[in-house]
Amino acid sequence: MAAESGKKWVLTVTAQTPTNIAVIKYWGKRDEDLILPINDSISVTLDPDHLCTTTSVAVSPAFTHDRMWLNGKEVSLSGGRYQNCLRELRSRASDVEDEEKGIKITKKDWEKLHVHVVSYNNFPTAAGLASSAAGLACLVFSLAKLMNVKEDHSKLSAIARQGSGSACRSLYGGFVKWIMGKEENGSDSIAVQLADEKHWDDLVIIIAVVSSRQKETSSTSGMRDTVETSMLIKHRAKEVVPKRIIQMEEAIKNRDFPAFARLTCADSNQFHAVCLDTLPPIFYMNDTSHRQEPFFNSSFINVIVPHFYLPIISCVEKWNRHEETPQVAYTFDAGPNAVLISHNRKAAALLLQRLLFYFPPQSDTDLNSYVIGDKTILKDAGIHEMKDIEALAPPPEIKDTNLTQRHKGDVSYFICTRPGRGPVVLTDESRSLINPETGLPK
Ligand code: ADE
Repeated sequence: MAAESGKKWVLTVTAQTPTNIAVIKYWGKRDEDLILPINDSISVTLDPDHLCTTTSVAVSPAFTHDRMWLNGKEVSLSGGRYQNCLRELRSRASDVEDEEKGIKITKKDWEKLHVHVVSYNNFPTAAGLASSAAGLACLVFSLAKLMNVKEDHSKLSAIARQGSGSACRSLYGGFVKWIMGKEENGSDSIAVQLADEKHWDDLVIIIAVVSSRQKETSSTSGMRDTVETSMLIKHRAKEVVPKRIIQMEEAIKNRDFPAFARLTCADSNQFHAVCLDTLPPIFYMNDTSHRQEPFFNSSFINVIVPHFYLPIISCVEKWNRHEETPQVAYTFDAGPNAVLISHNRKAAALLLQRLLFYFPPQSDTDLNSYVIGDKTILKDAGIHEMKDIEALAPPPEIKDTNLTQRHKGDVSYFICTRPGRGPVVLTDESRSLINPETGLPK
């Protein structure tokens, strides 16, 4: 048995996995250990060329315990969620043979062998950009390849789910549904692909990263408080989401942007309403996005109905109304960042002009680091240098420009992206994050 042969070989696999943004939100668990949700959810997978996790995993008889390095720092793998994933994967591992390297690992060897995991997120961890979704999906996907786990992506999604709920949706590209399932053991709580990324490739997604600070309320404790104290969540899970899931599936199937936008915005708003209905209330949208704004240039509405329209929501709502058909949808996750989904490239360029008008960068910022990802949207918007942002006129839907506030420096940067592919194995050895001689981070 090679695992006991004393030969100090190291076997590695490297994979890349996307993150995802929910357009019908997951909020609330019916089982905390197995991570079973109280409603189905639907997400769009984001292009891993712009937002992704890369993870290398290794096995060697020389390793003395399971270890992980995340973004350059060693972190503990002893947490229950990591352990659940490792246990589930080990129990499904199969024989592995690499004749060239003289490696033979039997199914039984995997019980004794230890793994090293080295992972990088190319975006801020814990800033509400679903890094744990991409991270846990990548951990499960890469280890499944290393251990020769012969399960399809849906079965792997049920393992990733036990690491981080929304990770199950990152096992697929395009448009993905996480079915809540009914079984107590969670075996039917899996992700399925509704359509791949090519099905609706006109969509452009712009993320306004408001802050890379650690979010104040963890999703786990926030969800628990909501399930324990909110009446609204019961109504949402039983009455609202089941209907919205059917409508959203139809909207995606028919590439019906007005329906997609209406459902996406409504569901984001209800998710935040449910957070506010929690005791103590949860505010995910921080100061930057919580400023009071005149709506439709009418301070009258603001006085009678004191809505706290976020500047971004206000910008989107005004423009969509002005065009009489939705050009863009907004959605906010459990963090202050805004995710804006536009109908097509033309709408995305017009959206970016508006965003840069309302949220110009600090004077010392360079344009290249202020708008990252797909730079062609910036060119389509006619923005080639910083002075083009300064020269932007208020959007035509603004009637009284005296009431227009610009929020300089409130956004850290924008990411322009699109629907993207699911996980892939990176076969190019130079992409590996692990030194093949030592089994340690490169
Ligand atoms: N949590 C956040 N990012 C992660 C990653 N890349 N791997 C594992 N866990 C994570």
